[in-house]
Amino acid sequence: MDKIRITGGQRLEGVIPISGAKNAALPLMIASLLTDETLTLTNVPRLSDVTALSRILSNHGVDRTVAGRRIGQSAETGQTISLTARQIVDTCAPYELVSTMRASFWVIAPILARMGEAKVSLPGGCAIGTRPVDLLLMALERLGAEIAIENGYALARAPQGLKGAEIVFPKVTVGGTHTALMAAVLAKGTTVIENAAREPEVTDLAACLTKMGAKIEGAGTSRIVVEGVARLGGAHHAVLPDRIETGTYAMAVAMTGGDVELQGARLDLLQAAFDVLVRSGTEVSATADGVRVRRNGGGIAPVDVETEPFPGFPTDLQAQFMALMTVAQGTSRIRETIFENRFMHVQELARLGARIRLDGDVAIVEGVPKLTGAPVMATDLRASVSLVIGGLAAQGDTTINRVYHLDRGFEALEAKLTRCGAIVERISG
Ligand code: EPZ
Repeated sequence: MDKIRITGGQRLEGVIPISGAKNAALPLMIASLLTDETLTLTNVPRLSDVTALSRILSNHGVDRTVAGRRIGQSAETGQTISLTARQIVDTCAPYELVSTMRASFWVIAPILARMGEAKVSLPGGCAIGTRPVDLLLMALERLGAEIAIENGYALARAPQGLKGAEIVFPKVTVGGTHTALMAAVLAKGTTVIENAAREPEVTDLAACLTKMGAKIEGAGTSRIVVEGVARLGGAHHAVLPDRIETGTYAMAVAMTGGDVELQGARLDLLQAAFDVLVRSGTEVSATADGVRVRRNGGGIAPVDVETEPFPGFPTDLQAQFMALMTVAQGTSRIRETIFENRFMHVQELARLGARIRLDGDVAIVEGVPKLTGAPVMATDLRASVSLVIGGLAAQGDTTINRVYHLDRGFEALEAKLTRCGAIVERISG
């Protein structure tokens, strides 16, 4: 298994290109199941999650073409992937495939909408919490599907087709909103989704579905109205920039000190996190090409944070922010409100010398003057990258094991950091 070794203590200076968002690319790829025409996605990141989902989609009969790189095109230009689900040859998504990636459960919606039936393995638990799918199934039931759970699979049937309805989510769910949207676009009549997720990735999916011929209003607000259509067609769509990758590198610059332009990043996708960074003593400004993040000289001020659905502070940046707070000049409190078990990085940050105490859903982080390098490992993607950030600031060498977590969600991580002066090396093993 590959490892990453970081020699800490270098300031980051330069330009980091921001990739297309993993969490937008995945539902967009799944949306290709809704039409027999071709959906072409540009700015798709090169990530193992994208490869895994491609494999799952091909099992359902989706043909995939990946455009080759043109002469002179940089290695960091996103991929262009064309997906054509002329026929859905298999309405079952088996355990072996779904268990590798939770988001693949979302195929249940387009397959049910197009074929009147779907059988998808329940994804099971994961490192950050129990993560049930009850609300996704509730949404499909509201649209008229009969749902049964048998032998670890969710079976959904709607032989007469889905019918528009009111769906009220008791809590904000990104996957629930994606699922409701993808089912409602082909349902007969009007669907109203109340307490919908407002995440930019939901808005991106709605924008792409609209290009495919769907009638959607209110995406980006908590009330989405969908007027069902009989069929959808092909479209071209560029995946929006990854706000979590943006925030991750911004925290790295805040922690090591330095001056980096995050090329292609958008301030509006991450206002809450940038506000917190500014309060911590980091300068953030919009540039013609993206966002510039700087911290020169001054110390890091402690800031209390609570994770929330968009537009609040994202749970996917909680671990990275905690890494930054470990060297703040004082004590900060970080509350995790989205997932019940998303503090797996705490013990590993402690190996770098961090002082963190857990009290239920709150982490109390007492800043220390410096971290020191150590071998560490983590059990999920964002926790792993928080250790990279810790390692960049720590004195000496940090080795991060289980790099496959990072490969799921961070494109060309070592190359992007190395270009800005970090000493980062992948050790194959
Ligand atoms: C998406 O997961 C993201 N994944 C997650 O990113 C992200 O952390 C999360 O949204 C919250 O922003 C992708 O987009 C692929 P939810 P999702 O449904 O859709 C509960 C990463 O690192 N819930 O919004 O699965 C759930 O347990 C990943 O890139 C139910 O109770 O998250 C959680 O407490 C990790 N029943 C809350 O809702 C349900 O049926 C929000 O989860 C569904 C969810």
